[in-house]
Amino acid sequence: MTVKIFETPEVQNFLKAVSGFDEQGGNHRAKQIMHRLLSDLYRLIDDFDVTPEEYWSTVSLLNALGGQTQFGLLSPGLGFDHYLDMRQDAIDAEAKRNGGTPRTIEGPLYVAGAPVAEGFARMDDGQDPDGETMWLTGQVRDVDGKPVAGAKVEIWHADSKGGYSFFDKSQSAYNLRRTIVTDAQGRYAARSIIPSGYGVPEGAPTDQVLKALGRHGQRPAHIHFFISAPGHRHLTTQINLAGDPYTFDDFAFATREELVVPANRIEDPAEIARRELDGPFSEVVFDIELARTEAAELQVRHKRPRALEDAADQASQLAGTAEV
Ligand SMILES: [Fe+2]
Repeated sequence: MTVKIFETPEVQNFLKAVSGFDEQGGNHRAKQIMHRLLSDLYRLIDDFDVTPEEYWSTVSLLNALGGQTQFGLLSPGLGFDHYLDMRQDAIDAEAKRNGGTPRTIEGPLYVAGAPVAEGFARMDDGQDPDGETMWLTGQVRDVDGKPVAGAKVEIWHADSKGGYSFFDKSQSAYNLRRTIVTDAQGRYAARSIIPSGYGVPEGAPTDQVLKALGRHGQRPAHIHFFISAPGHRHLTTQINLAGDPYTFDDFAFATREELVVPANRIEDPAEIARRELDGPFSEVVFDIELARTEAAELQVRHKRPRALEDAADQASQLAGTAEV
């Protein structure tokens, strides 16, 4: 079939009407973006001869994605999260804001309001029978190598089955989620468990999209971080543990060479005793370098909908101890 109607005045005028160009009210930027988006999709329908069956099955898939709140999962799978990072890297380079540990995607599973500890925290609740002890430490430094004391290191990760507390209701509140404030040497330390990688649910709408592309939906074992300190650039990043089959094949495209960290098995009784553990453990070391900035808006994480964030903000503002 060779029917092409996109360029006709009828369709072009129709697009303007659909995008609200003839209306006084509404939001100018929303109209511009919708017009562009619809134009691209209308053209696509023309170019690929999209059939009604294909169109309506896509509508059905979108309904399923929304119904299962999976857009936040599909988003990194289709590379949008990484693309936003690539753009931010380019914006920083143009503004000559260089240096610091690389950023990578936040993902959709942060929960605001985790308990705050000074220097050290135990992150796991001891209830995961398969949890292998992880000793996670590091130092926060500025670009000159000077330790940053009082930096806020927010850490969250999955359990041994790849589940996150809050979203996985079988886990206790804030399990494997902590905020640790660095000590005078800029150091933080956490006792936790080695996280497992995880995959998008088999057969779920996100999985259907990936399967249609011949792709898998697996992530390697990884640990998420927000790091912030006054006078420094807020950093959103994560580390991928070395040796996972998906370390360099992450469906969410979060892997960056500089952010792959080994988990070293420690069996020396003296080291075990020093940490007051009762058996071998795996040590993960992640030092963080923060870029400097005077701009207040760059010292905090950008806004986006996050679990419990609004409630936590409200509560902390009322208490006069805003943590964000
Ligand atoms: Fe994650």
